[in-house]
Amino acid sequence: MDRYYEDLLHSEDEILRSALSASRAAGLPDIQVSPLQGRLLHLLAKLNGARRILEIGTLGGYSAIWLARALPPAGRLLTLEIDPRHAEVARASIARAGLEGKVEVRVGPALETLPRLPTEPSERFDLVFIDADKVSYREYLEWAVRLSRKGSLIIADNVVRRGDVVEGTSTDANVQGVRRMNETLATDARLAATVIQTVGVKGHDGFVLAVVVSDP
Ligand code: SAH
Ligand code: DHB
Ligand code: MG
Repeated sequence: MDRYYEDLLHSEDEILRSALSASRAAGLPDIQVSPLQGRLLHLLAKLNGARRILEIGTLGGYSAIWLARALPPAGRLLTLEIDPRHAEVARASIARAGLEGKVEVRVGPALETLPRLPTEPSERFDLVFIDADKVSYREYLEWAVRLSRKGSLIIADNVVRRGDVVEGTSTDANVQGVRRMNETLATDARLAATVIQTVGVKGHDGFVLAVVVSDP
């Protein structure tokens, strides 16, 4: 079904396909969002009228291109990546997409970069996409809220993991990381959240969608 709807809706163009081949040619893992998930991110950014977007976990820049294409002319996307090799591949694909003026790839462990970002109201993000190491998801969510405003949208990838996340006794560090974030989601009154489960080329997984409902 994913392939059928990808084709039907022309989900990918030459630029996105070339970002994927560049990623593969450089030996990066094939774990970016699927084409239809990329389109979902794009539509959510449009619906939210996002002008400033933060992404945590760049890889080869595939989701960054989807998100940045939703920005208005003066919009900006900042994406954080720990691996300089991934960042290099991403920068090249972002340039090929004609988005180098809008997108900055910043290299370093996200938990070192996030505390250095400005917190003035004018610098807040309208949308944050969390997609780096799952172990730090709770901390990423906390930073996402701190760097947001009322009405911002926070999205986190890989929160279902074939259903493994339901197992409170799982010893998988990724599952434990998502469940730690979920404790915050459940208790933080500033957030209204839901989960969209997805099934397709990446198997059974899902996104958290959380709206910041009061000023952080
Ligand atoms: N959002 C991308 C996929 C990201 S995969 C897409 O859909 O196209 C996860 C990325 O997070 C990898 O590139 C990995 O190197 C990066 N990452 C892992 N730990 C990190 C950390 N502590 N800080 C920043 N990036 C990290
Ligand atoms: C995998 C998928 C992801 O979307 C991700 O962010 C990390 C890992 C995976 O399929 O292994
Ligand atoms: Mg992911």
